[in-house]
Amino acid sequence: MRALQFTAYGGPEVLEWGDAPDPHAGPGQIRIAVRAASVNPIDWKSFAGVLSGGQPIVGTGYLGYDAAGVVDEVGEGVTGVSVGDEVLGRGRNTQAEYAVLDSWAAKPSSIDWAVAAAAGVAGETAERGLRLLDVKAGDTIFVDGGAGGGGAAAVQMAIALGARVIASSSEANHDYLREIGATPVLYGEGVVSRVRAAAGGPVDAVFDVAGKTPVEDLISLAPEPSQVVTIANYAAGQAGARVTGGGADSRPMAALAQVAELLAQNKLVIRCRLFRSTAPPMPTASVRAATSAENSS
Ligand SMILES: NC(=O)c1ccc[n+]([C@@H]2O[C@H](COP(=O)([O-])OP(=O)(O)OC[C@H]3O[C@@H](n4cnc5c(N)ncnc54)[C@H](OP(=O)(O)O)[C@@H]3O)[C@@H](O)[C@H]2O)c1
Repeated sequence: MRALQFTAYGGPEVLEWGDAPDPHAGPGQIRIAVRAASVNPIDWKSFAGVLSGGQPIVGTGYLGYDAAGVVDEVGEGVTGVSVGDEVLGRGRNTQAEYAVLDSWAAKPSSIDWAVAAAAGVAGETAERGLRLLDVKAGDTIFVDGGAGGGGAAAVQMAIALGARVIASSSEANHDYLREIGATPVLYGEGVVSRVRAAAGGPVDAVFDVAGKTPVEDLISLAPEPSQVVTIANYAAGQAGARVTGGGADSRPMAALAQVAELLAQNKLVIRCRLFRSTAPPMPTASVRAATSAENSS
């Protein structure tokens, strides 16, 4: 099959389409013929070598952590999904003609492939953060970085739970935040007082999706340090906030079922920027986070 790959660390110029071994669904997995795959920050971190700990690259690297497509192999022990079903989900090396998914949900028929592809990582991450924070109807929460891939999913999923959401972004994204139901505040210096003013009362939980604001500032907004959950500031645990990287605290199948339902109900709308590559036989390309690449073949 064809897959996006790299054999040296660097910028986007190291990426190329090439032949790759066919993956197969192991126990508990499915394989899909990929129709679209999204790009998340972890993709650039991978090919830039940020995750390598300073070690040189060994072998060939592949990209992609979520995708949407048509099931063509069902692994041992998997029930409830059949060859030919249209799904979205999470896996590894999804920027390819075929990809193995570890978790998935039926793709709502009303949602196009690119949006479905962009739902996996962002949706699961948002579900995880909101669940860890126990966000419920009537809560007021602050999402720091609300206009990004994970943030916009978190904003809309929190609103679907009945919470009131204050979210930070650049000025340019304030209209977008209003559109998805959040009260926007500018991030950066002074963000704490802007959130307090917007909340007009206690903030029940803080979801740090950007990892840019000093964790002490975020903790000062929350009723207790553990009511700050971050996906992007791995040092935040030292101050008492909770860091989640999506291991034992992830419930991906349940999360993706919820995400698919919200997509079908139009309660979760994912803003996508679509890129197609001209590389045959799988015209796909890479884009920034929360965007998708669609395979038009
Ligand atoms: N731990 C996990 O399980 C997990 C899972 C998924 C992602 N992540 C990580 O989480 C981070 C965000 O991912 P993403 O997909 O949401 O990225 P993204 O789509 O690139 O969004 C990042 C957002 O951060 C905002 N931002 C920039 N500077 C900021 C600041 N000073 N304060 C607050 N927000 C700021 C940006 O807002 P503007 O666009 O308005 O400037 C942008 O919307 C990445 O580091 C990613 O690797 C972790």
